[in-house]
Amino acid sequence: MSEKLNILGIESSCDDTAAAVISGHLNGSAEILSSIVVSQTDLHATFGGVVPEIAARAHVEKLDVSVIKALADANLSMDKIDAIAVTAGPGLIGGVVAGVMLAKGLAASTQTPLYGVNHLAGHALTPRLTDNVPFPYLVLLVSGGHCQFLIAKGPLSFLRVGGTIDDAPGEAFDKVARLIGLDQPGGPAIEAAALNGEPKRFKLPRPLLDRSGCDMSFSGLKTAALRARDQVIVQDGGLTKQDQADLAAGFQHAVSDVLAEKSRRALLEYLKLSPAQPTLCVAGGVAANMAIRNVLKEVCREHKANFVAPPLALCTDNAAMIAYAALAQLPYRSSDDMGLSAKPRMPLDTSSPTMLGHGKKGAKA
Ligand code: KG4
Ligand code: ZN
Repeated sequence: MSEKLNILGIESSCDDTAAAVISGHLNGSAEILSSIVVSQTDLHATFGGVVPEIAARAHVEKLDVSVIKALADANLSMDKIDAIAVTAGPGLIGGVVAGVMLAKGLAASTQTPLYGVNHLAGHALTPRLTDNVPFPYLVLLVSGGHCQFLIAKGPLSFLRVGGTIDDAPGEAFDKVARLIGLDQPGGPAIEAAALNGEPKRFKLPRPLLDRSGCDMSFSGLKTAALRARDQVIVQDGGLTKQDQADLAAGFQHAVSDVLAEKSRRALLEYLKLSPAQPTLCVAGGVAANMAIRNVLKEVCREHKANFVAPPLALCTDNAAMIAYAALAQLPYRSSDDMGLSAKPRMPLDTSSPTMLGHGKKGAKA
């Protein structure tokens, strides 16, 4: 392999079909040459959640064209690609299989080394791609499908210090938005509505704050929002714009409080292990929420820690992070052969017990 490596990344674990090309060195510095993300939001909108079968079919339709476009945008042909990186899990199995099959076919036909990558490693290593954050650092992954705290110690070494025991926060944002009559995706809709709302009008719970540790739960909060909505409907016959705004603000405030307190605890755990250069990084679609970013920034300020939030396009699902994870891991692992399999569950930290979340958006590894 030449000193500077071009890596093609492929991602299809949830509802975004993505392909990207990065160019980088084995020391971890890299630039993104192209990044294609084809969203399936419209296909799933009427079903109120991601339908795995529809997602898998859409990935099959869009994967090859996404790869062709990513290569064209990078101005490279396959013979200039040194490695192919593909999400091998965790995720909705039909989509992951589609990506892995494409990657295997490309690797075999072009004699290019193949690397199966854990999707969560892609998210967790992104702060190194965007901000060159040194190991170790603490990451909070918060999206529609994931919610966990990880201490990233190296490209293949992660310690999970907590996570959701049920829904991911993005999933809860989406469900609550639907309950109160706001559009999908629910996160941005709730954030916008909350700007005009009174967060203290409805008394919503802060689940698991009364228990020690960094585990979280968002399913009860969603049910509490449903009850609050129903009470208003029973009393007044329906929801006004102000009721929607107050419910949105109350829900967002509750999620922010939980994430802030659990981040505080995770940071304290992290500081016990690595007191120098504390950094908290966030990744995932929910990291776009300004109210949540602000409380996390404040927690970092209190503990004199750096706060890093990658640009939104690299917080949400993309293939550049998969290509980058392979680049970062390449010196420490071997390539995969044609036996590479797709896995719905794939914990990053195999020493911690598996989180068996039951959320709609896919597996919680
Ligand atoms: O990372 P992502 O694009 O996909 C996966 O779930 O893997 O995250 C999408 C999630 C959705 O649930 C969406 O509602 C949420 O991120 N989201 C937000 C915001 N923007 C997107 N949640 C809260 N506030 C936002 N501004
Ligand atoms: Zn993701």
